[in-house]
Amino acid sequence: DKGGHKHFMAKEIAEQPTVLTSALNYYLDETGITLPDPGLDFARIERLTMVACGTAYFACLTAKYWFEQLAGIPVEVDVASEFRYREPPIAPGTVALFVSQSGETADTLAALRYCRDKADRIVSVVNVAESSIARESDLPLPILAGAEIGVASTKAFTCQLGVLITLALKAARDKGRIDDTELATHLTALRGLPGLMNIALDQADRTRALARKLAEARDILFLGRGPMYALAHEGALKLKEISYIHAEAYASGELKHGPIALVDKTVPVIVMAPTDALFDKTVSNMQEVMARGGKVLLITDRKGADQAAEGVWNTLILPEVDPLLAPILYAIPAQQLAYFTAVAKGTDVDQPRNLAKSVTVE
Ligand code: F6R
Repeated sequence: DKGGHKHFMAKEIAEQPTVLTSALNYYLDETGITLPDPGLDFARIERLTMVACGTAYFACLTAKYWFEQLAGIPVEVDVASEFRYREPPIAPGTVALFVSQSGETADTLAALRYCRDKADRIVSVVNVAESSIARESDLPLPILAGAEIGVASTKAFTCQLGVLITLALKAARDKGRIDDTELATHLTALRGLPGLMNIALDQADRTRALARKLAEARDILFLGRGPMYALAHEGALKLKEISYIHAEAYASGELKHGPIALVDKTVPVIVMAPTDALFDKTVSNMQEVMARGGKVLLITDRKGADQAAEGVWNTLILPEVDPLLAPILYAIPAQQLAYFTAVAKGTDVDQPRNLAKSVTVE
């Protein structure tokens, strides 16, 4: 049942404020954060190894910034197909964390089994609660996104991020890096996020109009810094898998080390830049793109647009948000741009060519 939408993907994009709210309600109460039994105390945890594939991997890449910044826990992130054969040493004090919507991805499951007798704890962040990955974990953490039918992952991604930021905040508190008051402030911001996502969803008409233009491109670049770099990857993956337009993500600061050679007036460059501590640096990279004729779509907030929109091809304005939470909010326009671009191109949005929902063979 597509709930009145043309595609499951559209339905699942629209559902995000609701499902994220249920995910947060599951983990948060008035007193703070509660994990399901047997719980997890980060106080003695020295490092985190996060492993996943595709979109779930980009959720891990985003969470690396959170765990490191908030909790001071060093994080290693890898794609499962590399991790499992690389056979990396796992030091004592490591928690191994696996993220998977289906819970059946063959490489991720093999990576989990590799860690079985090596890591202190095996934690998983999964959507399908009865899945192999959930069953084989010491602590399976559900994301409660509900069934995801569209092959391109959307609501599972934002719910994965919702659970991962909650975990990172718990880690920060367990490590004594934030006190109860600071935790409460973060949790209030987190609870406000679904409301901001609704505002972002309301931009659909504008996003659709922009996507019609993007549909004419052969190559599209996504740029971001910090956690927005991780989201840039997700934006590029979403776009290529359903619209078949070649898209790549780069860390803004890497641009001048090569990729800027790709920029000309035919290449739209999507810059994801909320006004955070790194905003000015991203803007200066964006100006380098414009100086070479690049067609910039700046996704930012009102303040950012006032400061930096001069000379850009277009802007998309999102509500102001706690910079920590920006990747979750900015996932909405990233998904909508991909969706409307695919619709404009007339591709099979819910069943893109060559792709399967659950990759149970390596
Ligand atoms: C992209 C997408 C895939 C999956 C990947 C992992 O939209 O859906 O990249 O994220 O195949 O799948 P799970 O999360 O089921 O392990």
